[in-house]
Amino acid sequence: MISKETIEQVLMRNDIETLIGSYISLKRAGSNLKGLCPFHSEKTPSFTVYPQDNSFYCFGCGVGGDAISFIRKKENLDYPDAVEFLANRAGITIVRDERADQRRGEPKFDRAKMFKMNVDAAKYFNKCLFSDNPDAKAALAYFTDKRGLSVATIKHFGLGYAPNSFDAFSKYMLARGYTYEELVAGFLCGKSDKGRYYDAFRNRIMFPIIDVSGNVIAFGGRVMDDSKPKYKNSSDTPVFKKSRNLFALNFARHTCSESMILCEGYMDVIAMHAAGFENAVATLGTAITSEQARLMSRYTKKVIISYDADEAGQKAAMRAIKLLSEVGLDVTILKVPGAKDPDEYIKNYGADKFRALLIESKTKFDYNLENILSKYDINVSQQKIKALHESEKLISETYSSAERDIYIQTISKIFDVDSKSIKSDVDRIISRAAFVRKKEEAQKVKQDAIGYSDRVNPDFVKAPAVAKNEEALLGLLLLYPEHRKKVFEEQLVSDDDFFTELNRRVFDYLREAYFEREDSHTDMNEFFSADETGRITRMKLSRMGLTENGNAVLLDSITTLKNSVRKKKAEKNSSLEGLEKLLIDKRKS
Ligand code: CTP
Ligand code: MN
Repeated sequence: MISKETIEQVLMRNDIETLIGSYISLKRAGSNLKGLCPFHSEKTPSFTVYPQDNSFYCFGCGVGGDAISFIRKKENLDYPDAVEFLANRAGITIVRDERADQRRGEPKFDRAKMFKMNVDAAKYFNKCLFSDNPDAKAALAYFTDKRGLSVATIKHFGLGYAPNSFDAFSKYMLARGYTYEELVAGFLCGKSDKGRYYDAFRNRIMFPIIDVSGNVIAFGGRVMDDSKPKYKNSSDTPVFKKSRNLFALNFARHTCSESMILCEGYMDVIAMHAAGFENAVATLGTAITSEQARLMSRYTKKVIISYDADEAGQKAAMRAIKLLSEVGLDVTILKVPGAKDPDEYIKNYGADKFRALLIESKTKFDYNLENILSKYDINVSQQKIKALHESEKLISETYSSAERDIYIQTISKIFDVDSKSIKSDVDRIISRAAFVRKKEEAQKVKQDAIGYSDRVNPDFVKAPAVAKNEEALLGLLLLYPEHRKKVFEEQLVSDDDFFTELNRRVFDYLREAYFEREDSHTDMNEFFSADETGRITRMKLSRMGLTENGNAVLLDSITTLKNSVRKKKAEKNSSLEGLEKLLIDKRKS
């Protein structure tokens, strides 16, 4: 846990206007600022920053909160990491309150020891791979014979083998001075329900994950047959975040200033490096994240996506294009013909053929256009119309109008259709899409207002009126310290006065903050999910817009809430009575 002082300092030193302004462009609107929401796609700004209150809220999608909530969502970080991110940004050193860490059952970590433990583990797996027993020999043969890797490549990547045993590895590590607690923390061991420890990786070939500083930070372990799961990967540890690292970046960073190749699999990367393409990297068993995209943009200008040839791979490539372009990288896609993935392609056709593919890798537009043209026979007019329409739709998805003009010229030639008519089609598709999006946004706001399909507070639908009264009261409490003082000191409201679980939690949190944390509620991120902080912000905002928020309004809102809850509970009881009566009647008959 991070101390309250640190949180307050982090929030103070990260001015919300500058922080969010570094991600999106904000325009002044009265005392607030507005911009296009970075969390959903919109054409008219509904994302608002409230500098006086240090908060933000999007009226389109309902995200909101403080600077920490913003970073949690935008950088996809959990709470402590988001605080650390902001602390680094402001040049604050974080002192984690260790007593609190222990109280929460989080063991203490010595990063240096953790890294050393991983290196020792990697060495052990590597030694096992080259040992004499039959299992190890089979593992080595899998690498060399089945996957075609040289011993030099195996050594370069530090590949290994985890023996088929529940304790061989941990016995070795314990003897070297590591504790079970440390091994479990590093995901090298597991602990059963009965409290027994076991080796996490068994009978798997091992891929150490190494960061750019050369630290071994995690492992991936693959089975050698078709059994499931195919891979076992370290989960995030104190020294490892899979969303923030890339496999083989430690090598690739030396040769990637012009371009980088992004693959799906460890084996693809290894095959590429072995074939001389040492600028290849892969994500760590997950789809690419915006953090990884940004990481890549620090090392290179251009990324060539080389995913598996199957539909899943190609779909993932489309998502990757979006994230990579967003951070300003040039992106092209490479599709391997006649192979399931780049690894197989290089094995079957060789490095030179692959080099030729790299040169021919396509931009998103060319890649998609090629797919469309291969689907239809444009000598048949019906098919030609379909192909033209799909191409127009593709162009309409391009943001830059200059780029659109270039593409319009291209397809005008291909389809032999006047560019003016193509342009007017494209414009129509764009305005139609904008109209639909606006309608959907408006619909969503409406649905949120009545609580229909409310993911954040699922109880809302069961009693919308009560939930609204709860939110009205909570809004007052969130905004005014004097209201908190009155309500909590005089115990005017209790847990029982809440019907929805989320709102009861917000109430509890405020009360606890009041009594136990000297009325500080700056760290709501510690107790609520990013979606929930958005809802809490909305409660506050809807009150901020009202002029009359004094004592009378507070007392009135308490009475209204209590009455509505009482009514709701009575309803519930009477329907219970009804049910009982029905059952009795049934028994009688
Ligand atoms: N992956 C994973 N868990 C799985 C399957 C895949 O974490 N059950 C991750 C691994 O990082 C893997 C990548 O997704 O490297 C790509 O998956 P896949 O193509 O199935 O594996 P490859 O490593 O390419 O293995 P191979 O070519 O040997 O089939
Ligand atoms: Mn693969």
